[in-house]
Amino acid sequence: MKDFFENISSCFLIVNSQGLVLECDSNFEKKSGYKREEVKDKKHIYEILGDISSWKKLDWGYETYLTKSNGEKIKIFINFFSFSDYNLNIITINDFSFLTYMYENYASFISQSPFPIIEVDLSEMFNYFRIIKKIAGNEIDKYLEIYPEAIYEIIGKIKFIYINESFYNEYKGFSFDALKENVFNYFTEEGLNTLKNELLKVYDGNLNLNFEVEVIDPIGKLRFINVYVYPVGRERVLIYILDKTKERELEEDLRRSVSKITNLYNQVINTLSSIMEHKDSYTAYHQKRVAELSHAIAKEIGLPKDKVDAIRIGALLHDIGKIAIPGEILNKPGKLNNIEMEIVKTHPLTGYNMLKNIDFPPEVLYIVLQHHERLDGSGYPEGLKNGEINLSARIVAVADVVDAMISHRPYRPPFGIDKALEEIEKNKGTKYDPDVVDACIRLFKEKDFKFSI
Ligand SMILES: [Fe+2]
Ligand SMILES: [Fe+2]
Repeated sequence: MKDFFENISSCFLIVNSQGLVLECDSNFEKKSGYKREEVKDKKHIYEILGDISSWKKLDWGYETYLTKSNGEKIKIFINFFSFSDYNLNIITINDFSFLTYMYENYASFISQSPFPIIEVDLSEMFNYFRIIKKIAGNEIDKYLEIYPEAIYEIIGKIKFIYINESFYNEYKGFSFDALKENVFNYFTEEGLNTLKNELLKVYDGNLNLNFEVEVIDPIGKLRFINVYVYPVGRERVLIYILDKTKERELEEDLRRSVSKITNLYNQVINTLSSIMEHKDSYTAYHQKRVAELSHAIAKEIGLPKDKVDAIRIGALLHDIGKIAIPGEILNKPGKLNNIEMEIVKTHPLTGYNMLKNIDFPPEVLYIVLQHHERLDGSGYPEGLKNGEINLSARIVAVADVVDAMISHRPYRPPFGIDKALEEIEKNKGTKYDPDVVDACIRLFKEKDFKFSI
């Protein structure tokens, strides 16, 4: 990088009106290889910079060659400032050889690029913008609303200077004239809208653009392309085009198959959950309600969506192990004896074993296995305590108790919701997770939670 700046840095010579060198700077010494004493009062500029008649006039100076002390010639650009009162001229010398080298390489880079690249001159478009600016100022949006056809005029002013081979290979049969005549042939309506918005940015002076746009290729195929615009001159830009069609098609396929899998997954869960209906309609109904309440509590606590979803699924299946318990026990009108109670207590493990080989989120299995565990270790099947119980199971435990209490059972009348909330409040911190209890009470008392079934 240091070399780069040294290469493009300027140097100067002071010469008298006859062209004799009176002074030079150290940059000149470096650039030319001459020592100051070798040129000062000794050399004429035509020996170093060639005859003035051979200098090529440019808009902003002259182009000529510097002959170095070793005879080598390099292309330079000079400016000439005359101070006739003092019989002096100052010549600044700019060596752009490095830039020229870069430009030449950049040109071959563009032509050999595997990506389609177009070089575009926007000066006519900018002239047109200047005219519009006089009328519309910064309110081009309004102008285009009144004269929507102006956008075609704007596109018509874009001048295509260079199109590389990759572009022609990729878009065989493409014609810029046809594009200008009818942009709808090459852009969908949405694509044209994108283009319009990007041109508005150019109107505001922004030439660095990057956008994705829908186009129609010459054989009529819809394509998605990423467009990168880089300014390479005051009103010139390079446009790189990267085709995104394949990625978009793959994304679309993936989205479709994911939604297919999701549908299948939901069907499996619903089927599993409703299997209980054939066995015990109360439990099937209870699972749906516990799923609703658990889902609401999980959201209220502020868990992320994937956890909230997993908790809903787990709650929907939490009692699935009851399928293995005889109906006589499940629907027994009176109190269960000890043996019957022990049989009922097998349902978390049975359910876990039923589901453990299915690729569910981990919360689902925790819920099925741990929803009867209690913080103080008084629960079953393992007597886990506090943090040993997964949060998802602590949530379903509360929802489970609340729904069980407010539902009608063959052996007792339903309790009201107030009684149920009183029960969880009373055991908050001992049996039930305090945060979960608070969230559940908030839902009923402040947020008007209601079961939909
Ligand atoms: Fe249960
Ligand atoms: Fe339950």
